[in-house]
Amino acid sequence: MEQERTLVLIKPDGVQRGLIGEIIDRFERKGLKLVGLKLLQLPRERADELYAPHQGKFFYDYMIQFMTSTPIVAIALQGRDAIELVRLVNGATRPTESEPGSIRGDFSIDITHNVVHASDSPENAQRELDILFDSSELVEYQRLDEAILYSPEL
Ligand code: CMP
Repeated sequence: MEQERTLVLIKPDGVQRGLIGEIIDRFERKGLKLVGLKLLQLPRERADELYAPHQGKFFYDYMIQFMTSTPIVAIALQGRDAIELVRLVNGATRPTESEPGSIRGDFSIDITHNVVHASDSPENAQRELDILFDSSELVEYQRLDEAILYSPEL
């Protein structure tokens, strides 16, 4: 079965508000497999690399200041359609569009202090995972429930 890997960040507001467990729980319950996990303070250079596609936008400087202010959690997740599924679990970027039931819909009211980040394409997932994780920090294993999470392929 074709599986994808993607990057999630729990932003400084998520860590400061004690939401790490709640957020990881949502991805685990969905059936996504944790393949990398770390708590770190994001260095300025890595924040610039991560958000390079947004360089020059009016919100860029504050976003970088915020993302480097206090620790974040980096999570690598794996599963079928993981990139799209994680974005659904996270909810829309705009606070007025994030549905209740999603992480942002339940826990955020601001477009920058919006608790979580996730990769938006396969290319960005690979790029962002490479910024946050060394390949030796990502693991491969079978979760016991995988046999029941996925229907057998015909
Ligand atoms: P994130 O998913 O981390 O990726 C890019 C970030 O840019 C996004 O979350 C928002 O926090 C931020 N962002 C996008 N649009 C705006 C905006 N109009 N004003 C402020 N921040 C924004």
